[in-house]
Amino acid sequence: MLAAVPRVTNENVLVGFDTSDDAGVYRLTPDLALVQTVDFFTPIVDDPFTFGAIAAANALSDVYAMGGRPVSALSIVAFPQKGDLEDLEEILKGGAEKMHEAGCVILGGHSINDEEIKFGYAVTGTIHPDRVLANAGARPGDALVLTKALGTGVITTALKRGLASDEHIAEAVASMLRLNREACERMLEHDAHGVTDVTGFGLMGHGREMALGSGVTLEIEAARVPLLPGALDYARRGALPGGLKNNREFASCAVEKADNVPEDIENLLYDPQTSGGLLIALPDAGAEALERQLPGARRIGRVLKRGASPICLI
Ligand code: CO
Ligand code: CO
Repeated sequence: MLAAVPRVTNENVLVGFDTSDDAGVYRLTPDLALVQTVDFFTPIVDDPFTFGAIAAANALSDVYAMGGRPVSALSIVAFPQKGDLEDLEEILKGGAEKMHEAGCVILGGHSINDEEIKFGYAVTGTIHPDRVLANAGARPGDALVLTKALGTGVITTALKRGLASDEHIAEAVASMLRLNREACERMLEHDAHGVTDVTGFGLMGHGREMALGSGVTLEIEAARVPLLPGALDYARRGALPGGLKNNREFASCAVEKADNVPEDIENLLYDPQTSGGLLIALPDAGAEALERQLPGARRIGRVLKRGASPICLI
């Protein structure tokens, strides 16, 4: 969409919008840069407080995905004129609590009337200009680690259709509420080379961007990719979000797939995630350490020299 916008040429723009990265990075001084990102969306769970908190965790994620530290945020609110103001208060409270947990202060925000509720934040973080972890840094020989299980899109779709069990919803919500802060801190300790967070385009879509940006091929082992409990079952029963089908249509031409990869598992690799985990390319020893240190982190493949396709699914 931004392709029609002229590129920014400014020596202080360290990461702009032309590389499909998670956030923009602007150098203020030789040892200080800003990381900036914005994200907002319509409610995906029934409880307003939980929705606000998930929106905050999700908006913060793009700062962590650059290796940055969130500092301040502005809220973005669209709310119906006839809506229940108590709901709005709960949304704001949930968001504020999550921002507080992240050590990120809310400086203000803006709201408009709209028929459909939308909520999120513009987040600003800081980073050292030499320590920016772009999605384009993956190197052949790196291991690939994913820090959260996939399936939030399928499970929230199952929820809307009344199919999802309370237990499965609770697991998906807990995953979406979890900040990527610890994953960020750990990957910095273990010499990560390239990172992105897995969000709306799914593992395959964001993996494709990492591969193209880095000039490599990602080899992903379908059987190793962690899935949220219930996700596979709901996908088999047809609870596939529209975004999943769009992602598959868009990214599948970038994926070379072995014949033995089951189609229902493959589907979940395109599932759009809200507040998904980090996809990290880093040396083997670091991957082992992350698996030990981060609950839920799994090594899902490796980075190869550039081959015929951006992604090899085995
Ligand atoms: Co992102
Ligand atoms: Co984003």
